[in-house]
Amino acid sequence: MVRPGLREWFAVGRVFANGNLLRNDDGLKLCQRFEAELADFTRSKHALALSSGTAGLICALQACGIGPGDEVLVPAYTWMATAGAVLLVGAVPVLVEINETLTIDVDDLSSKITARSRAVIPVHMINRACDMDRILEIARKNGLQVIEDASQAVGVLYKGRMCGTIGDIGVFSFNQHKNMTSGEGGAILTNDPHLFTRAMNAHDMGISYRTQSTGGNAPVFVGNNYRISEIQGAILRVQLSKLPGRLKKMRGRVRTLDRAFGDRGYLVAPQNDPDAAMGIAVTFDTEEEAIDFAKKRGVRRLFDNSKHVYTEWHAVLERRMAHSGLDPWGWAEISNGREINACPRTLDLLRRSCAVNLMAVAPFPFARILAKRLAA
Ligand SMILES: Cc1ncc(COP(=O)(O)O)c(C=O)c1O
Repeated sequence: MVRPGLREWFAVGRVFANGNLLRNDDGLKLCQRFEAELADFTRSKHALALSSGTAGLICALQACGIGPGDEVLVPAYTWMATAGAVLLVGAVPVLVEINETLTIDVDDLSSKITARSRAVIPVHMINRACDMDRILEIARKNGLQVIEDASQAVGVLYKGRMCGTIGDIGVFSFNQHKNMTSGEGGAILTNDPHLFTRAMNAHDMGISYRTQSTGGNAPVFVGNNYRISEIQGAILRVQLSKLPGRLKKMRGRVRTLDRAFGDRGYLVAPQNDPDAAMGIAVTFDTEEEAIDFAKKRGVRRLFDNSKHVYTEWHAVLERRMAHSGLDPWGWAEISNGREINACPRTLDLLRRSCAVNLMAVAPFPFARILAKRLAA
């Protein structure tokens, strides 16, 4: 868990002294300045800060024009919000297996595309980049939009580009468990001005009060309020300045652990871009070995991680929305007989795999001690 420090405390104090806590693009402009800094850091043309990763996914889907009657391909291993956001805009998540990289399996992705498929959401889980080259190739061939869920991979690279900036539009989460945090928070990244305008519209019902351009002649539609406050803007600016140092330390830890686990003969889960590896996981031959390994401090078996496992998404699986008239499955004409959720290979991998929480297990300077303890 990332803990805020003294610098965040002072930054928030400055907002209190100013007295205007609401997003304010004329005063301290902290949200606006954070967005500019985030766009610069990610080398993305546009960045939009909003209240959570979930809000980011909803706005990204709305920006892409996804809605009733559409299918969206979602990996079976992700936080439930990825699938939930799809349903909240009226579309249906069709689950796709993961492979040994613990990210979306591109072969299974290809096999699940139908005439109704409109988008794919590759999720860069536990700081591990998806196979973006092949995903983009498949998406372009089949007319799918690519919405990257990089909630768990803020700052992680894939072949020199940052996760979240490779597809059409990408999403970060800044909740307390992520690489940087403001308690709750999120962001959208895109190079497409049209998608940016629509995302901005989706996240702010009263967009017209903002001084930023609404991006030309895109029609304004009914939005929501997913804005962040200047308090979050202040914290996020400090957190972003700390992120490169944090990522460097994480990368160092991954290398140390990778060597230690390799020496021990553990099967370290392969990465789609090994040079940029920022998260480490081990896959065992049997479930029992994984359960045993997970007893070590800072280690978690992926199957035991609650709503990251699709079989725990009860409301999704049982087709329960807030109102019975909201029926994404009916709108997409998905009969009860059509199986859109079964992903047995994903369950098998999650049962046998464990991830190491690089930030939780020991102070950063002691990576070698940590490695020894885990590999013992
Ligand atoms: C992969 C993934 N997607 C989306 C989200 C949703 O982010 P938030 O909690 O900021 O709404 C999370 C949060 O844990 C996540 O891990």
